[in-house]
Amino acid sequence: MAEMHTATTITQLRMLVSYAKKAGSKIGFVPTMGALHEGHISLVHQARKQCDFVVVSLFVNPMQFGPDEDFHRYPRPLQNDLQLCSDAGVNLVFNPSVEEMYPTGFATTVEVNRITNNLCGKSRPGHFKGVTTVVMKLFGQVQPDVAYLGQKDAQQALVIQRMACDLDLPIEVVICPTFREADGLAMSSRNRYLSNEQRSVAPLIYKSLCLLKEEVALRKHALCIQYREELLMRLEAIPKGVVDYVEIVNAASLEVLEKMSGTVLVAVALKLGNTRLIDNILINTSA
Ligand code: PAJ
Repeated sequence: MAEMHTATTITQLRMLVSYAKKAGSKIGFVPTMGALHEGHISLVHQARKQCDFVVVSLFVNPMQFGPDEDFHRYPRPLQNDLQLCSDAGVNLVFNPSVEEMYPTGFATTVEVNRITNNLCGKSRPGHFKGVTTVVMKLFGQVQPDVAYLGQKDAQQALVIQRMACDLDLPIEVVICPTFREADGLAMSSRNRYLSNEQRSVAPLIYKSLCLLKEEVALRKHALCIQYREELLMRLEAIPKGVVDYVEIVNAASLEVLEKMSGTVLVAVALKLGNTRLIDNILINTSA
């Protein structure tokens, strides 16, 4: 396997990517904030399958964190991340400093409207503006052919797809399935914040989503609001869990639905102590 390169400056990154492009390589890109787990690595595997040269970025982006969020305590296990990338066959890791990404005088933001109004966009004001700004910059820096994002952050993936389409970027945005622990908990860098007690109840989030999916298959209710109420009750029963949102929306437009029809996204956010967890499930109602 070829040696893995690392770059901390945009100049280094550009040089290494341009070598690969000149050699005719198709460039795959997996943007991350590091603290990598198997969910991230599943995106790398997908990229490896479809591309010749895989770039992973590790950058904890201050612009997408609210003032009371976990930017400062977000885990940054760089050596472990580099090892995981190397083991997964990544060709180039880009881990810039905050100053490299946001030098003095930086004044531009990228904002996607409408589909950022509900779900995480509502409970984390400014979050998606931070995400789209940094991802637009990373896209400009790496200039990949394909970018890989996780269904775990369903709204984020759609927002980035929207941005790429609206701004005519020549980048295909591929959304990969959510990678889960054996007990169903969606893998997340934030899972490491959970106490043993919190970790033991966290799988109830996905269990509740699966139960809803089964009930939809049985056509238990007529209206989304009824499924939503039931899901809310189950999530509220999770010990020490505080529900942030529960939404049943159209999987493409993210508009709140009255009836279960078409492809439906059921998305939830819940706080266990100080840790905010999100998860979602797609349901094809074939109606
Ligand atoms: P981060 O939370 O590190 O996630 C990086 C990518 O990994 C995202 O596309 C996310 O959806 C995906 N991912 C995380 N957990 C996953 C899981 N269990 N299964 C599959 N994919 C998973 O999302 C971000 O970073 C940032 O917002 C970023 C896009 C890098 C911009 O800063």
